Amino acid sequence: PDSVHIDEDSKDKALEHNRVEQQGQYLTTDQGIKIENTDDSLRAGRRGPTLLEDFHFREKMTRFDHERIPERVVHARGSAAHGYFQVYESMKELTRARFLQDPSVKTPVFVRFSTVAGSRGSADTVRDVRGFAVKFYTEEGNFDLVGNNIPVFFIQDGIKFPDVVHAVKPEPHHEMPQAASAHDSFWDFVSLVPETAHMVMWTMSDRALPRSYRMMEGFGVHTFRFVNAEGVSRFVKFHWKPLLGTHSLVWDEAQKLAGKDPDYHRRDLWEAIELGDFPEYELAVQIIEEEAAEKLGIELLDPTKLVPEELVPVRRIGKLTLNRNPTNFFAETEQVAFCVANVVPGIDFTNDPLMQARLFSYLDTQLTRLGGPNFAEIPINRPLAPVHNHQQDGFHRQTINASRANYHPNSLGGGCPMMASAAQGGFTHYPERVRTEKTRVRSESFADHFSQAGMFFRSLSAPEKTHLIDACRFELGKVEIKEIRERVLDLFSNIDGELTARVAEGLGLPAPTTKSIPKSPVQVAPSLS
Ligand code: HEM
Repeated sequence: PDSVHIDEDSKDKALEHNRVEQQGQYLTTDQGIKIENTDDSLRAGRRGPTLLEDFHFREKMTRFDHERIPERVVHARGSAAHGYFQVYESMKELTRARFLQDPSVKTPVFVRFSTVAGSRGSADTVRDVRGFAVKFYTEEGNFDLVGNNIPVFFIQDGIKFPDVVHAVKPEPHHEMPQAASAHDSFWDFVSLVPETAHMVMWTMSDRALPRSYRMMEGFGVHTFRFVNAEGVSRFVKFHWKPLLGTHSLVWDEAQKLAGKDPDYHRRDLWEAIELGDFPEYELAVQIIEEEAAEKLGIELLDPTKLVPEELVPVRRIGKLTLNRNPTNFFAETEQVAFCVANVVPGIDFTNDPLMQARLFSYLDTQLTRLGGPNFAEIPINRPLAPVHNHQQDGFHRQTINASRANYHPNSLGGGCPMMASAAQGGFTHYPERVRTEKTRVRSESFADHFSQAGMFFRSLSAPEKTHLIDACRFELGKVEIKEIRERVLDLFSNIDGELTARVAEGLGLPAPTTKSIPKSPVQVAPSLS
């Protein structure tokens, strides 16, 4: 069978085949015909009508007319860079993922940072969650860690994702506001869906105004599994820790920058890499033994909860270095397709209902966004690991399947691609026991929406608390419907008394009485920097 040797430059070398320099070359049509004149269309007479037979004009215009593809339905605005990842020491005892075994191996990566709500041309420094998506081109195939800069999410179940995104995006009648949470529909949703409480605290905090992509944490959010060669599974939460530390803008800076330089984060990332000031992040993991999970008192399948670092230490296991800017924004940053379902042997899923929905959604949306089922052949998406299967045809197929037989099993094509056992690197799904009834009812263990929201708020320093309260006053101050503001205050009263009183004061509304706040297992959240 094919085997690959991967080093830091492997992806760069693979992409080299697709790079085309124009300098010093003749201008041609897409068919390779040299062009004599690209400034004047072919006419019947000097002042006469343009002729349809001018194939160069028609091709040039047609290609221009079709340059746009749909932007991502979320995370449309992004910036990306190439780099490599190196593990500090073998993670053999925890996972059989090969890129986590050998500290001398440099696995190529492509990383895309993004905002969530705004469209492709929106400003970088808006108040929003940031995406932190990493594609590892490992020798066993692509592993995508599609994370955010906030460790929790708005909702517990993916079936509500279309609802939360519709509420966050510009309103349907007038397409306003662009990339802002200061509007009725967002707060209406928040006020009606208490599970948003924890994430709302993070998005109103300074975390939603990162100073730079180089100074931003990343989180896998969901609980994943690590599975080792013996088949032993442990729960794992993924973190990225920027070596420059975690830093934020303040609201006034963010607003001014959005006007003066909407590309502020994009430019900062690009220039740092051009200057050789390579951004670095450590990959870190929280490992939770299956037996310890129940005693933790935190529902690991609930993506609105984090596991405090005080309870489960964060172990730094390797380093990501971004050292090369893309050659072409569209070919790389725009066409890259991340997918939560892209895992390698040794990394597996859990029953987190948000994660389960994501396993479906990414590939599904990319079928539209990237024009059909062959987008894994686009150079930026193509794995470095060899690909052999009977997938065929569809729009934009590049691979020329060379075998006569296109089914399994067969005896005509000189034999079939072989199956790989786990020992031969085959992906085997973790055989979790599932024996239960079908239901839409959520487990009681998902019911506490407020204790970690309060824990986060109370962990902030005094200026950080003031920033968060000012953000709530500003954003809610833009909400036109009074009942929504009142309902949000009611929600806040479940989180923290000080928060509710100070936001209510800013809005000129009476503060509802503070509810009895459920106690969390620990009262301290990870500090902000
Ligand atoms: C992008 C769906 C939750 C992180 C996307 C895209 C979709 C999507 C459809 C556009 C993908 C594309 O066009 O290539 C969902 C659904 C979710 C969910 C259905 C919940 C059920 C999350 C969560 C995170 C996240 C919890 C973070 C842990 C991202 C990132 C991107 C993205 C980083 C941008 C990837 C890129 O840079 O291309 N999501 N998402 N999403 N999502 Fe999610």
